[in-house]
Amino acid sequence: IVLDDYHTFTLPQTATQLIIVDALDELPLLRQRLDCQPYWLGEGANTIFVEPIKRPIVKLSANQVVLSAQDDAVYCHAEAGKDWHQLVVELAEQGVGGLENLALIPGSVGAAPVQNIGAYGVELADFCDYVDVFDWRSGESRRLTAADCQFDYRHSIFKTPQAASWLITAVGFQLPRNWQPKLTYQGLDELAVNDGLTPLNVVQRVTEIREQKLPDPKKIGNAGSFFKNPTLPSAQAKALQAQYPAMPSFDVAGGIKIPAAWLIDQLGWKGKGVGGAYVHHHQALVLTNRGHATAEDVINLARQIKQQVLAEYGIELTPEVRFLGAQAELTLEQAYA
Ligand code: EPU
Repeated sequence: IVLDDYHTFTLPQTATQLIIVDALDELPLLRQRLDCQPYWLGEGANTIFVEPIKRPIVKLSANQVVLSAQDDAVYCHAEAGKDWHQLVVELAEQGVGGLENLALIPGSVGAAPVQNIGAYGVELADFCDYVDVFDWRSGESRRLTAADCQFDYRHSIFKTPQAASWLITAVGFQLPRNWQPKLTYQGLDELAVNDGLTPLNVVQRVTEIREQKLPDPKKIGNAGSFFKNPTLPSAQAKALQAQYPAMPSFDVAGGIKIPAAWLIDQLGWKGKGVGGAYVHHHQALVLTNRGHATAEDVINLARQIKQQVLAEYGIELTPEVRFLGAQAELTLEQAYA
């Protein structure tokens, strides 16, 4: 089975078995039929298939959404196969705010909690009520509260070994009835003066901003930001700031966050590449497939960038993208090692 169209990087790769599951109640039977735990695939918006995949891949297409308005909040239950951006738009069209800054993020609802997707000052964790999982090991379903999910910057319990046998089946959101737009991010601040502002207006503005900077994965293969923005201990960040006065930085809990895009940009990587894999010319944190890239090209490019950033700034970049090997998830270093 050709996987090119099952991930947004559209790199050539194959799998032995791909199973599309339309309804959540099919999972127990599927578990009995398969002799090993499958990879769980959403829209593959954060995934690179490193080598031919031998483990079965399961893509959940169940995408029902149930909204219930209560006195304090609007509750939304969305099945994992729902397209994320579609959910954001549908909520905004009904005047339900909260998720609008997360418009146009590629991927499915089920993938969103894994890396706690975030943009323009909002992250999934801000409005997540619960996450439902199917435990492949026990065959049982369970509901995790938002606190159970241990959300952090581009991180959650779903990236840890503890969650290795959990498949996310649905996400619950608690959205405020009394909407407070979050417009502090540059580009959104101009909306702040607008009185009759609606969640849909914000969706439109975020969409414009993203379309200017980020390549459309339908046209140019990519997986959004390739690396996380590193948070440095204050002392290390201050020493670097003395050496590089132009370096942008943001105070966050636990230290000082530096935009990885700036580090990569300074090293002159924009528009440069390895094989068919290139650094996007408008956003240095986004690696792209110019049409004929292989997974190996992307990984070699990422490694070179990582090595140069380490050599120049002493900062170890961590990929945000995930690397799936034939049987198990790999690190950037393990791929083609
Ligand atoms: N910058 C450069 N060169 C560039 C791009 C940016 O020097 O080519 C510098 C600028 O100083 C800019 C700063 O880096 O102010 C930050 O750039 P930007 O606002 O584009 O955001 P980012 O830190 O690169 C993060 C998220 C994005 C998210 C945006 C907007 C991560 C890893 N990435 O990017 O998320 O959309 O902020 O909130 O946190 C994703 O996770 O896939 C993703 C796209």
